[in-house]
Amino acid sequence: MGALSGRTIVIVGATSGLGWGLCELALAGGADVVAAGRRPERLADLEARGAQAVPVDVTDPAACRRLAEELAQKSAPPDAVVDCAGSARLRRLAELEREDWDQVLGSGPIGANNLIAALVPVLAPGTVLAFLSSDAAFISPYALGAYAAAKAALEAVLHGWRVERPDLRFCTLALGPTFPTEFGHGFDPALLEEATQHWDQAGFPWDRLADAAEVSGFVLDVVVSLLAHPGLSVEHLLVRSPAARAGASERG
Ligand SMILES: NC(=O)c1ccc[n+]([C@@H]2O[C@H](COP(=O)([O-])OP(=O)(O)OC[C@H]3O[C@@H](n4cnc5c(N)ncnc54)[C@H](OP(=O)(O)O)[C@@H]3O)[C@@H](O)[C@H]2O)c1
Repeated sequence: MGALSGRTIVIVGATSGLGWGLCELALAGGADVVAAGRRPERLADLEARGAQAVPVDVTDPAACRRLAEELAQKSAPPDAVVDCAGSARLRRLAELEREDWDQVLGSGPIGANNLIAALVPVLAPGTVLAFLSSDAAFISPYALGAYAAAKAALEAVLHGWRVERPDLRFCTLALGPTFPTEFGHGFDPALLEEATQHWDQAGFPWDRLADAAEVSGFVLDVVVSLLAHPGLSVEHLLVRSPAARAGASERG
């Protein structure tokens, strides 16, 4: 019997990176895993590994409600929901277009809010809802301003939910640079080279990025720990490589 035997964990944004790693670890731990995401071939792969796959684009409130309907069919409500959905556009602030904002805000704070609003009717008191934020929310790295703004907004949305629904346990895990995932796929190579020079000057810890498998494991450990301590809530954690601390010019 694994540590998560008898537990149901919903993992949103499960089709790559940290969400994918989390699915693998939760399945290995014996959890009943509901994997939600967009890419059908990856969802099929997760289903073959033992997860229940549900197609969900978090920008679509109706899709989030369909996920809630699937969860309502199960014998018990989920113990935890972990939202790993998120995306960035590498673009200087002056060049941002509406479509860039739509993507980063849609997959970030708006998507998270769609998800929570759809799921709360089927959740039991004490359910853990964990969301992956970023230390970028405090640093605003060069050419990642929209992403930083989206993560700052995500944290504000979650704080609002804590106020409105104190019966649920909303947890923000702000991560530092983590590799490998698909986070930077699609970044423009020329702008990435330019941005890299700025990130270098700000002390970006290239030589010691957090390892994605380790971060997924840590996220799951936080969830397991919260499930073992139903009287406690963890509202915010900053999780990153020790090297990241040295160079970050943080707010406050
Ligand atoms: N890697 C880092 O350095 C780092 C640092 C701090 C925070 N984070 C955060 O950690 C989370 C996971 O990122 P990652 O590094 O694992 O990157 P990733 O491999 O790109 O994973 C992001 C996931 O989000 C999903 N997603 C994006 N838009 C979505 C939408 N509208 N609806 C549903 N799913 C959507 C993607 O699904 P598709 O397959 O459909 O695109 C993908 O599975 C993100 O919130 C990211 O901002 C990452």
